[in-house]
Amino acid sequence: MEFRIAVVKGDGVGPEIVSEAMLVLDKIGAKYGHTFSYDEVIAGGCSIDINGVALTQQAIDTCKAADSVLLGAVGGPKWDHNTDAAKRPERALLGLRSALGLFANLRPAMMYKALADACPIKREIIGDGFDIVICRELTGDVYFGEHGRRESTNDWGTIGYDDMNYSEYEVERIARRAFEMARVRSKKVTSVDKANVLETSRVWRETVARVAEEYPDIELNYMYVDNAAMQLVRNPGQFDVIVTGNLFGDILSDEASMITGSIGMLPSASLNESGRGMYEPIHGSAPDIAGKGIANPIATILSCAMMLRYSFGLPTEADAIERAVEKVLDEGYRTLDIAAKGEKTIGTHEMGELIRANI
Ligand code: IPM
Ligand code: MG
Repeated sequence: MEFRIAVVKGDGVGPEIVSEAMLVLDKIGAKYGHTFSYDEVIAGGCSIDINGVALTQQAIDTCKAADSVLLGAVGGPKWDHNTDAAKRPERALLGLRSALGLFANLRPAMMYKALADACPIKREIIGDGFDIVICRELTGDVYFGEHGRRESTNDWGTIGYDDMNYSEYEVERIARRAFEMARVRSKKVTSVDKANVLETSRVWRETVARVAEEYPDIELNYMYVDNAAMQLVRNPGQFDVIVTGNLFGDILSDEASMITGSIGMLPSASLNESGRGMYEPIHGSAPDIAGKGIANPIATILSCAMMLRYSFGLPTEADAIERAVEKVLDEGYRTLDIAAKGEKTIGTHEMGELIRANI
């Protein structure tokens, strides 16, 4: 089969890790008889430098025309001081999410057995490890509500405000994704909200409960977000699929990735209603190590596996990538970020080559 992929290499380590991932896709193509063609898209900080804005209409159009988008990372200290929203690198992410309708963000957080020592949580708490998917709503909530400022009527100065809201429609479609996901996993969904305080969360919770009636085979529980943050470090093994809104999902997914001890390993998928998606590592652009050839390409490579599985319907090929990654780790190869003290490390390209050799 033939697939067209829009490639946003982005900033920092983005270009080096994405290049390795593209070579992995080429290897899959050669082995299984598929053709992947790539349209390079400039977005993020590099686009601010070239085009004056982080995301151009042309970039959006190219991503829309593709079968999926592969993204490295955007951002860096060079653009951090920009106050104009269009000149902030994250505008590229938010703009693409909204333009492509990528409402479902899947962020797996699992502990690799070979990397158990990198996990910052005590062994007795971790037990047999954990395998969580955070199913984060990505195009609504306080991120996309009305933002603004107004003057206070007393003498408290300027008030900043951001409207938090969710419609039943938005909650229904993300809840369905979570239940479907749980069906092919351990059949458990935890819905996270702040229904003890927020009306948005009460609509969220009622809607999730209604959708749950269609999935009697799935165990559903609810948790307030503060408790969920605590439970993630207290007993991460209790979670399977966590479904939550945009803001809570942003925070909890960082926490979940941290407890795996291997943030350089975690991929993500952002999907729209038609199943097309944007695939990217969950880590950032790591400007401190950019250009040195030492960044870990695994999260981006595993993001390609997610692309094959979720957007292209190629589970065998996705498995092949995931197995190759595990094999290389089991054999003891490490990039700097996942190496224990004294362990020998390899670079970005060498890691990519080893993974390809195992496909
Ligand atoms: C993420 C990031 C983004 C978000 C930022 C960069 C806008 O933190 O993808 O989690 O908040 O969604
Ligand atoms: Mg985040």
